Amino acid sequence: MKKKILVTGGTGYIGSHTAVELINEGFEVVIIDNLYNSEIEVIERIEKITGTKPGFEVLDICDNEKLTDFFSRNKNISAIIHFAAYKAVGESVRKPLEYYRNNLVSLINLMEAMKKFMVSNLVFSSSCTVYGQPEKLPVTEDAPLQPATSPYGNTKQVGEAIIRDTVSSDENIRAIALRYFNPIGAHPSALIGELPRGIPENLVPYITQTAHGLRDELKVFGNDYDTPDGYCIRDYLHVVDLAKAHVVAVKRLTDGKNKSGYEVFNLGTGQGVSVLEAIQAFERATGVKVKYRVVDRRPGDIEKIWADPSYANIELGWKTISTLDQAMKTAWDWENQIRKK
Ligand code: NAD
Ligand code: UFG
Repeated sequence: MKKKILVTGGTGYIGSHTAVELINEGFEVVIIDNLYNSEIEVIERIEKITGTKPGFEVLDICDNEKLTDFFSRNKNISAIIHFAAYKAVGESVRKPLEYYRNNLVSLINLMEAMKKFMVSNLVFSSSCTVYGQPEKLPVTEDAPLQPATSPYGNTKQVGEAIIRDTVSSDENIRAIALRYFNPIGAHPSALIGELPRGIPENLVPYITQTAHGLRDELKVFGNDYDTPDGYCIRDYLHVVDLAKAHVVAVKRLTDGKNKSGYEVFNLGTGQGVSVLEAIQAFERATGVKVKYRVVDRRPGDIEKIWADPSYANIELGWKTISTLDQAMKTAWDWENQIRKK
């Protein structure tokens, strides 16, 4: 019998790619999402890619009554991958209460349901934002966490703490927190990808929209940083590689291969890439020029961060495969596909 995996936020960017990889690996996928930041068409697109339609319900995880009803109707869930959250750093500064409520109430509701309905395994979407500006690079999982620079980052730190404390109080619950670095790109089919609402906050959607002519120019936030070329450095990984790590994490938990009840892994390439290098990679991969202008630094930006992914490489047997140029090409193919509509 196929193992049933509940994917919260599964019509979103990373969740939809993960649903595809789970189905390809023989899991049964059930998605819950309130469609706050995604479209219902994603379900058909997942079916188009995999040949299998995942189960789907529109559900707000903050609605505890509806969530309880969902679990009472859906038995034998082997693991939950919890993607559902608000994710815009800048917006979280303007709307802290919305972020704390949505990201933390949903997690508490979900973990209470896990206890009540005897679901043992949880994979949590965390973020490298929990490190702030690390003193040592590349950053390892045991680096001290810095005070978060935004309510969003705080929800990831507190989210990790909620999970860690729940696991240590209940031997039936196991969890893996995955600290993503910067996911970019789209599925090679160009059927699913990132769909920013309004003006994109993130670099790569801004690059693709500018290249497409939707935006006049990319504003690059500062080139006076203490880095080799003066631009900020990040660790950009292909979303399909990231999705595959979730399959590995689910298998580790459901096969009982985890080393402790609560584990944390960095998911990145290990390569630091400057904003300028990212723009150049896009231009190289697509043959399209990006008009950009350097402006002031963006408040709250970390100067440089990239992962030491060796713990995930060794323990999970996972590593990134796609190059930066390949990821940029898929982001461009996706942008062209959505603009065809
Ligand atoms: P996304 O917005 O594309 O997907 C999140 C999905 O969750 C959306 O479909 C949204 O409608 C849904 N959702 C939000 N609140 C909900 C609620 N209360 N009930 C039900 N559904 C709800 O975001 P994404 O980029 O796929 O991110 C997924 C997760 O990964 C998030 O937890 C995010 O914080 C985390 N993360 C993302 C990045 C990134 O750069 N994209 C980096 C690090 C961590
Ligand atoms: N940047 C620009 N111009 C833009 C957008 C971004 O120059 O229009 C620069 C930023 O200053 C930064 C780099 O591009 O130096 C990357 O910025 P993003 O906004 O794409 O990504 P962040 O590293 O700021 O944050 C992202 C997500 C977070 C997540 C974090 C770590 O937005 O939710 O990666 O995974 F937590």
